[in-house]
Amino acid sequence: MAPFGARAREHTGGIIDLSQGTPVDATPEFIQQELKSAANSPGYPLTIGTPELRSAMRNWATNVLGASGEFDVLPTIGSKELVAWLPTILEAKTVLYPRIAYPTYLVGSMIHQSTNIAVDIDAKSWPKSDLAWINSPSNPTGRVHSESELEAVIGYAREHNTVIASDECYINFPATGPKPISILKVAAGSNKNLLAVHSMSKRSNLAGYRAGLIAGDPDLIAEIREVRKHAGMLTPLPIQRAMTAALGDEEHVAIQAARYANRRKALSSALIAAGFQIDFSNAGLYIWCTRNEDCWNSVSWLADIGILATPGVFYGEAGAQHIRIAMTATDAQIADAAARIMKSL
Ligand SMILES: Cc1ncc(COP(=O)(O)O)c(C=O)c1O
Repeated sequence: MAPFGARAREHTGGIIDLSQGTPVDATPEFIQQELKSAANSPGYPLTIGTPELRSAMRNWATNVLGASGEFDVLPTIGSKELVAWLPTILEAKTVLYPRIAYPTYLVGSMIHQSTNIAVDIDAKSWPKSDLAWINSPSNPTGRVHSESELEAVIGYAREHNTVIASDECYINFPATGPKPISILKVAAGSNKNLLAVHSMSKRSNLAGYRAGLIAGDPDLIAEIREVRKHAGMLTPLPIQRAMTAALGDEEHVAIQAARYANRRKALSSALIAAGFQIDFSNAGLYIWCTRNEDCWNSVSWLADIGILATPGVFYGEAGAQHIRIAMTATDAQIADAAARIMKSL
């Protein structure tokens, strides 16, 4: 990426970096205040979270995700950390992950030296495993699992007694097509072996705080909690306080979702005019598109007009003709990027 970044930086208007999914919009003020108010924090934080945070996580899982039946919750220090360490914590010998995916699923299986297998969406085609990752809405494709696809995943979990980790960190940002749904909603109260993995990073522009949570099968969460009591990765108390406030408010999430939807619209029409075909991209933070050429050619074309995009091959060989464009730039930068694309035609 470095040479393309250097070329993009030479553009007279400066670089517009759309290669990273790192939020740029401000952390809402009321969340910042909660963090500050907990600055005096001499004792160790609770692994399981404060009673207030536990109740906020439970309410959120019930009201927003649609979880029901018996389930438990646990705060995590970011969700990348959980993704990377889950195969180790669960001693998973075989790990499945999506063929086009966030690279940490693979890296987590490598840390534990698990056998790892890239799989397609349809769970009916999956081999037996100990842990299977799904990611809807997907990074990088923005694809959303349908209810029947999630039912097939739950069926697979029942048949093979496999743990399903459903990474749903972009669920708050629907765009076009079917609304993303949590695996816990589809499970309708039968949560055995199911874990929904969530992050506050994108939902609340909180990536710098490192905050996330898991919700699901109480036995599974008890197992993870016991390891975590000794392995650490405790969520710091000021972060727990900030999370509690953030989970209690959906208004700031709706405002952020509208920002991403507007940016998606502005960029999509310019990309289509430039001959790109947009695939999936039904939710989340990214536009996944192709000009049916090697992804590096598309990256190079955009670098010439000062825009940095990510080559799809970073997410698996199946992405070698796609690029991922993140909407994590200011409205002004996104408008500028769209204008640069249109001007170059
Ligand atoms: C699919 C997916 N899962 C997990 C994460 C990790 O997010 P965080 O560690 O900020 O919670 C990311 C970050 O980009 C992601 O794209």
